[in-house]
Amino acid sequence: TERVGVLTGGGDCPGLNAVIRAVTRKGIEVYGKEIVGFRSGWRGPLEGLTMPLGLDEVERILDRGGTILGSSRTNPYKEADGVERIKSTLEEQGIEALIAIGGEDTLGVAHGLSGEGVPVVGVPKTIDNDLDATDYTFGFDTAVHIATEAIDRLRTTAESHHRALVVEVMGRHAGWIALHSGLAGGANVILGPEQRFSVDWVCDWVLRRFERQYAPIIVVAEGAVPEGGSEVLQTGERDSFGHVRLGGVGTWLAEEISQRTGNESRAVVLGHTQRGGTPTAYDRVLATRFGLHAVDALAEGDFGKMVALRGTEIVRVSLEEATAELKTVPVRRYTEAQALFG
Ligand code: F6P
Repeated sequence: TERVGVLTGGGDCPGLNAVIRAVTRKGIEVYGKEIVGFRSGWRGPLEGLTMPLGLDEVERILDRGGTILGSSRTNPYKEADGVERIKSTLEEQGIEALIAIGGEDTLGVAHGLSGEGVPVVGVPKTIDNDLDATDYTFGFDTAVHIATEAIDRLRTTAESHHRALVVEVMGRHAGWIALHSGLAGGANVILGPEQRFSVDWVCDWVLRRFERQYAPIIVVAEGAVPEGGSEVLQTGERDSFGHVRLGGVGTWLAEEISQRTGNESRAVVLGHTQRGGTPTAYDRVLATRFGLHAVDALAEGDFGKMVALRGTEIVRVSLEEATAELKTVPVRRYTEAQALFG
């Protein structure tokens, strides 16, 4: 039997286990393949860290958050002899082809390896929904649900105390979570990374809301930057893993609102709660469909491709196209939402 490897790379995301389950079940039951899991993203094939994926291993994981394989942001192109080490692991383990489930970075590596003769199929994953080649990624719907629920809860406490509440959601480069949770939660200001924001403008909306005796809710993406304020927020520092530190725009903005309007305000940073726990039904279905179609591509020998959602259909795009561009929120989508801010 042909052996197939599967890995999950980058930040985790609700729905990863649903992909792993679909790949394993269809791979075994329909195509008679043997499925091998690589642990911890690209570190798995680099260091030969494997686990068997049989029918029993994928029982009762459909609704489980995280990834049973573990993940990492390890990039073989930044390791000495990375590509050679991956190739030799695949040979030693008798792995014919790989399914790589990941975001921009993981798929970028998949694209590179594909160019060097490694047979690989990609599956898109990110809660940020910022991969251009697919209409949606699984994990996004779950993150929006979690953020919306938080906004609903924060609104009642904000109103009890006549406070402004700033909710900081994830999204370094794209404000999709901010826009969608802001619309769903009825936010009074929505700020994304695509366009610098004016603090005075935010305060005008805050005051207007207070004048009407309601508590304002401001949803801000972690990557949003105030006019002239990038130096304050984007420290340029990196943590010990090399990630750029974001400066806490939500906390900063709440303090500015308090000082400038004289109204009490609080900030809540939702952070990794948006990535944890069980996926929504929508994300389970999308992840499952991606998994099923990825195995088809692999069985047909259609390598160097990524599965993607276009409208309601699952299609294949080249890994090159998949990683070419980020999908940010068009500014008109924020402008359009302003009709609802007051
Ligand atoms: O890409 C997904 C994401 O959750 C971003 O929204 C966020 O900026 C980043 O990952 C956080 O990364 P980490 O898990 O390394 O803290």
